[in-house]
Amino acid sequence: METGKVDVLLGLQWGDEGKGKVVDVLTPRYDVVARFQGGPNAGHTLEFDGQKYVLRSIPSGIFQGGKVNIIGNGVVIAPDLFMEEAKDLEKSGHELKTRLRISKKAHLIMPTHRILDRAYEAAKGKDKVGTTGKGIGPTYTDKVSRNGLRVGDIIDCFEEKYAAHKERHLAMLKALDFNDFDISETEKKWMEGIEYMKQFPLVDSEHEIHNLLRSGKSILCEGAQGTMLDVDFGSYPFVTSSNTICAGACIGLGIGPNKIGDVYGIMKAYCTRVGAGPFPTELFDETGKSIRDLGHEYGAVTGRERRCGWIDLVALRYAIMINGVTKLIMMKSDVLDSFDTIKACVAYKQNGKVIDYFPYDIEHGIEPVYQEFKGWKTDMTKITNEIQFPKAFTDYIAFLERQLETPITIVSIGPDREQTIIRN
Ligand code: GDP
Ligand code: IMO
Ligand code: MG
Repeated sequence: METGKVDVLLGLQWGDEGKGKVVDVLTPRYDVVARFQGGPNAGHTLEFDGQKYVLRSIPSGIFQGGKVNIIGNGVVIAPDLFMEEAKDLEKSGHELKTRLRISKKAHLIMPTHRILDRAYEAAKGKDKVGTTGKGIGPTYTDKVSRNGLRVGDIIDCFEEKYAAHKERHLAMLKALDFNDFDISETEKKWMEGIEYMKQFPLVDSEHEIHNLLRSGKSILCEGAQGTMLDVDFGSYPFVTSSNTICAGACIGLGIGPNKIGDVYGIMKAYCTRVGAGPFPTELFDETGKSIRDLGHEYGAVTGRERRCGWIDLVALRYAIMINGVTKLIMMKSDVLDSFDTIKACVAYKQNGKVIDYFPYDIEHGIEPVYQEFKGWKTDMTKITNEIQFPKAFTDYIAFLERQLETPITIVSIGPDREQTIIRN
């Protein structure tokens, strides 16, 4: 890592690549971990000492002692869910209040945002996005339409501001003829969450970050979701409502582009997606089912089945380009340990013509072109050094590096912190 620069770690696929695990593994190298976008739609899983944790709004650097964790201005935060998550961590012995800072410019997800999320999905009918239902879209919509409520608003005369926003949302719900809700209980807990949040340092995180950088501290930015869910470059409209790409770190933390150092791009050895939308390499057969079973591919937040398919190098090349990825991290290769054959999509056939770039429309007339490999057929979950990798696996990594023109610097061979191979 370069002094005075911040490194960014982000997902290259449709989310759930294993960002939480790797941020936790990399945290000892950094002084600060900062989230820059998304909210409790994220579910970042970490495992160590036989314990499993799922983080939604709190950065994954929180378990490594003595580090500063920041929730940046680009994040949307639900006070009730935040309180639940933070109290659970405190109960399990992890002190937060001196180590976690929240940007005053982060936007608040109100209970009515979550109802609006449901109402918009219902109105879309069969075209629904399959959101996490956490109110992400409506909260970001209020932000860009200049109607949002921010963390900084909770300090003074909050009740009045809240009531005005709620009233506006209720009128919108009425216009949508959506009456199937009762927020009275949620609202009570939400207001408790507001009081709870006041116990944390509410900061101007852009100044904090620059002061930390100036004093020589090293910073890792933790992305949520993945590049294929980015609101500009993902499979629109089946995307989330924030910029999940590297530029999102500049916006969501107030960092100049010239301050970005390494960009770590994370991918699974295969591909998954949860929710609706196109997925060119999706498998509907027994192989897809095996990946789901062996990889425990069920949503960390919603428990929904994740759709599974082969790795898509066309989409990955696009994601690497958009993000300026300098280092790749490959997760969950152990899930393919028992496979006889492994496939990688190297190009698409679009209406009969082979293309090697990611086109505007991946929903219609796209057929993946695969290259096949013999599986390595070795249990890799206990390997401790890359020299122990089976040859078929080393060859496969070399193939991916050539295809993606970027080095794979970390290989993850199991969910535990220890099951991580750092490559030289
Ligand atoms: P994130 O949202 O990117 O942080 O990823 P999730 O936590 O939603 O999903 C990744 C899942 O895979 C979690 O259940 C992790 O515990 C698990 N996991 C992470 N790395 C590995 C790995 O290398 N092998 C296996 N088998 N599981 C992994
Ligand atoms: P992490 O950070 C996987 C998906 C939802 C839906 C779409 C829009 O754990 O990788 P939203 O609630 O954001 O409006 O939903 O995006 N989605 C995710 N899929 N991992 C996530 O986060 C996701 N966050 C949102 O399933 O398709
Ligand atoms: Mg996840």
